[in-house]
Amino acid sequence: MGKEIENENWVNKVRAEENRQKDRLNSCPFRMKYHIMPPVGWLNDPNGLCQFQGTYQAYFQYSPLSVNGGGGFWGHCTSQDLLHWQYQDPVLTTDRLEDRSGVYSGSALIEDGTMYLFYTGNVKLPGDYDYIDEGRISSQLLVSSKDGQHMSEKTVLLGMKDYPEDMTAHIRDPKVWKDQGHYYMILGARKRDFDGDRRRDTGCALVYVSYNKKQWKLDHEILPEENFGYMWECPDLFELDGEKILSYCPQGLPAEPERCQNLYQSGYSILTNGETPEKTFQEWDLGFDFYAPQSFEDENGRRILIGWAGVPDTIETHRNLSVQNGWQHCLTIPRELHIENGAVYQRPVCEIDTLSWKREEGTLCRFGREMVKIETALQEGIPAEIRIGTEENGLTIHMEADRIQMTFLNKKGEPSACGGGRAIRIGRTASEIRHALVLIDNSIAEIFVNDGEVVMTTRIYLEKPERMITVNGCRTCEIWKTEE
Ligand code: FRU
Repeated sequence: MGKEIENENWVNKVRAEENRQKDRLNSCPFRMKYHIMPPVGWLNDPNGLCQFQGTYQAYFQYSPLSVNGGGGFWGHCTSQDLLHWQYQDPVLTTDRLEDRSGVYSGSALIEDGTMYLFYTGNVKLPGDYDYIDEGRISSQLLVSSKDGQHMSEKTVLLGMKDYPEDMTAHIRDPKVWKDQGHYYMILGARKRDFDGDRRRDTGCALVYVSYNKKQWKLDHEILPEENFGYMWECPDLFELDGEKILSYCPQGLPAEPERCQNLYQSGYSILTNGETPEKTFQEWDLGFDFYAPQSFEDENGRRILIGWAGVPDTIETHRNLSVQNGWQHCLTIPRELHIENGAVYQRPVCEIDTLSWKREEGTLCRFGREMVKIETALQEGIPAEIRIGTEENGLTIHMEADRIQMTFLNKKGEPSACGGGRAIRIGRTASEIRHALVLIDNSIAEIFVNDGEVVMTTRIYLEKPERMITVNGCRTCEIWKTEE
């Protein structure tokens, strides 16, 4: 990913591109109000999420110079309330031998007033390799900062010689935390593996330990008992309400009728009872657009998760209409996590209640650039439906008993344009669906069923005359719009 930027003044180069395209992006009807977007170009994974000296910091995989990705930078934005984001200059680029093809994903650790950022330096060697075993070098690097914006020199912490021999070079996305005087780093990995004579790699995670953040040694591997995808990206390991949660993105899981419908998956396993991860795997989000989430604990002790509202390698099947206006992708609304009924529930952070909301009359409305919130309660045994868009082009959310279906078909039964040619996703709740909350911020809809038991995220692209909401069959329904 990404070419080495030789120009020393890379920050100015990015700034110039952001300024050059500012008006074009500002006038794009698909820009959002409360979601993190690339100032220009492409964005993917959230990185280095943290609250530092009271301010929320979000970094992200950023390609300002190409709307179709390619990487090259860590973008940066800050916020006081997780909803209003101020964009800062990018903080990292590909300026070392070890990260010359990509400053890949990573995480933040805050200690004694200093921010430490751990990330993967990626190198793709020129030449003809099969790109699984060879042709790639992955290193884990560290920078530190006193203000979240200006970074120290880079230090290489781990390189190819430090990984177990049976791993391929696909080792990345360090998430680091401190526990009882030791530091731990979890990395996503692809283990060289065979099914008889046939090559079939195994996705797994490696946990390293350190006493000083500089020297690291392998502590243990987290391996599935049965093959569970060929590669795990963006792992995260944390405690939540007394349970041990492993979050990871397995690539290569077979699609099932109501599960694993996207190209790559992203979910969590509860490891508390010592089960191997695949036994308890649950997808984080059952919508069309979700991948590579990262969690962090804020200064109030909340566990907050933010995902990328996109999926890698789907450019051909999933066209984001914002591309024509010079940008692509966004992050989700931050979600607060809790364990309830043996599963992780995800709710939009309570800061959304501090926005100034105005109630609409009735269950039919038009919307423009405001954020919209639809709150419904269902009536037992009666199906309910929320339509966002017109009959020709739009998203239908159909809820009945324990089943929620999100559909992008038009009247003729063809996938409608706003779904990028995609059609249907289905979710199930443990018991009846009682209520649903839908947040719409211009070109994204996020659906939280039963207070966060099932979540579905999807991008929607509606032209002005198509921006309609229709709700049917609910016991109660309130539609709210922000006033700002
Ligand atoms: C996930 C991912 C990561 C990698 C990053 C590169 O979307 O492939 O594994 O670090 O994107 O942009």
